[in-house]
Amino acid sequence: SQADGGEKKSQRLIVVSNRLPVTISKDANGEYHFKMSSGGLVSALSGCKKTMEFTWIGWPGKYIPVEDRDHVNDRLLKEYNCFPVYLNDDLADKHYNGFSNSILWPLFHYHPGEMNFDAAHWLAYREANMRFAEVVSNFCQSGDMVWVQDYHLMLLPMLLRSMISGESAQGEMVRKELGRVKEGVDDEVVKDVLGMQPGVAQAVEHTDEGVEMLDDVEEDGELLQMKARRPHFPRGLSTFQKQEIAAKEKGKDGIRIGFFLHTPFPSSEIYRVLPVRREILLGVLQCDLIGFHTYDYARHFLSSCTRILGLQTQPNGIEFEGRYAQVGTYPIGIEPMQFVEGLQQEKVQKRLKALETRFQGCKVIIGVDRLDYIKGIPQKLHALEVFLTQHPEWIGKVVLVQLAIPSRQDVEEYQNLRACVNELVGRINGRFGTVEFMPIHYLHKSVSFEELTAMYALADACLVTSTRDGMNLVAYEYISSQSQRHGSMVLSEFAGAAQSLNGSILINPWDTQSTADAIHSALEMGPEQRKSNWEKLFNYVSKYTAEAWGTTFVNELTRLSGLPPNGPAG
Ligand code: ADP
Ligand code: G6P
Repeated sequence: SQADGGEKKSQRLIVVSNRLPVTISKDANGEYHFKMSSGGLVSALSGCKKTMEFTWIGWPGKYIPVEDRDHVNDRLLKEYNCFPVYLNDDLADKHYNGFSNSILWPLFHYHPGEMNFDAAHWLAYREANMRFAEVVSNFCQSGDMVWVQDYHLMLLPMLLRSMISGESAQGEMVRKELGRVKEGVDDEVVKDVLGMQPGVAQAVEHTDEGVEMLDDVEEDGELLQMKARRPHFPRGLSTFQKQEIAAKEKGKDGIRIGFFLHTPFPSSEIYRVLPVRREILLGVLQCDLIGFHTYDYARHFLSSCTRILGLQTQPNGIEFEGRYAQVGTYPIGIEPMQFVEGLQQEKVQKRLKALETRFQGCKVIIGVDRLDYIKGIPQKLHALEVFLTQHPEWIGKVVLVQLAIPSRQDVEEYQNLRACVNELVGRINGRFGTVEFMPIHYLHKSVSFEELTAMYALADACLVTSTRDGMNLVAYEYISSQSQRHGSMVLSEFAGAAQSLNGSILINPWDTQSTADAIHSALEMGPEQRKSNWEKLFNYVSKYTAEAWGTTFVNELTRLSGLPPNGPAG
């Protein structure tokens, strides 16, 4: 059995994500501001937080000078139960804008053309994952569960596993890449294999207790040497068993690591385009549980492991180095009551009444998206244009309210998209608008929760046209706000949500004509059909909540031992 020594273990949960639920900024007067973050990951985990207890570790979106950290850390911990991982601006830029959002994000959403591979961004990705691993490993105690979130942190499970068992994490990575276990790795090998800066893992000394290694760790520009000792292991142990023995010495054994990907995992035919395709897969294979939104994403991941790493997989996981990484499907959700109850608030009701008066005699279609090229906003606008051309009787009788939340504005593709959407909105409004009427109300800004809820409740239809989308929670939020109106949900078949939200009108956003037809059907659908669709949809959204997602995943992770189903190998 596991090396648990029979002691009672605590079952703390540590959630790690790149984005924390609050983003920090500093104004010209040096004052710090804390603002709620946006996006599906934050929405769902914030939903879980109401009933699950966890410490949330992540990047606060800003480098904070050392002298201000006590103040900031204190507020983060007391007000949000969060713990920060600080990255300097250059590292954060290359990790977040560079590797995460200019390489992994486009690739995982089937946009290899937008992918800009840059070796410096890959180094920064590894370095940032290493910083996370250092913070998390300091936090960890025996028996903890660490739940890593999303594509920004795909090396973290491996680095963390190496660190908690006292191995040189960078050295470990090189050894894996070389496909053999070496006691020490010299600088030249490190440099050759992964293009790393020299001086990361060095000096090996054999003592009675084990092997001593010196690891160079850079902390705020200062090079520190960290000593790590690995015990001598009896022959024939699997990597998993060695890791557990070494971790026990450090009081960090029996730590379970889970990983959840909030984006699609693409077909292996797309995934294999990635120059560091092996390293990313190896990064997550040190987990006990790997979760995806849909069955297809899980299947794509498993077939990538087979095709790229040559590993044999089971339908529900993979054995790797004596550990069994279980792979499963855990569709995320929201907390629908937040919207149901939010709608009852006086402020929201007042706003809803005002909007109803403003749009009297006119149907409203709502679109809510981060301004991201995966959301298919140009496709949505083209379809609206075709619809208005073919159904001029609707001109003046329907508006699209499109909220575009500013996102990742330092990345070039997002700047191009912004210009493209501005142009399209201008053109369509110019063509169909009059002095009294504009068909598109376009907002490029963040709106308050009250405003968002009122808009969802007001709308007769919601239009989600993502060309790829891990899940899409906007669809769930709209459904939760429609108990009165029973509005129609028009949903892209390329969003993960399409697999679950039976009762929506499914569209292929690339097919402009059928999307335009779907807008027409949504607007003309009779009340009985809308009601029966909504009931089915709301039933699903109420059952598969964020809380259900979180507890199902964590319960499964608690149950796992890390051992392969047929017992330890070797
Ligand atoms: P993604 O995760 O790609 O952004 P989702 O549709 O899954 O897409 O999630 C978007 C989330 O962002 C929703 O929960 C939505 O309510 C939230 N959101 C939308 N507008 C804002 C806003 N102004 N501030 C904070 N969150 C917002
Ligand atoms: C998606 C990603 C999340 C991310 C969110 C918002 O949902 O899966 O990890 O947090 O978009 O994007 P941002 O870049 O602002 O964190």
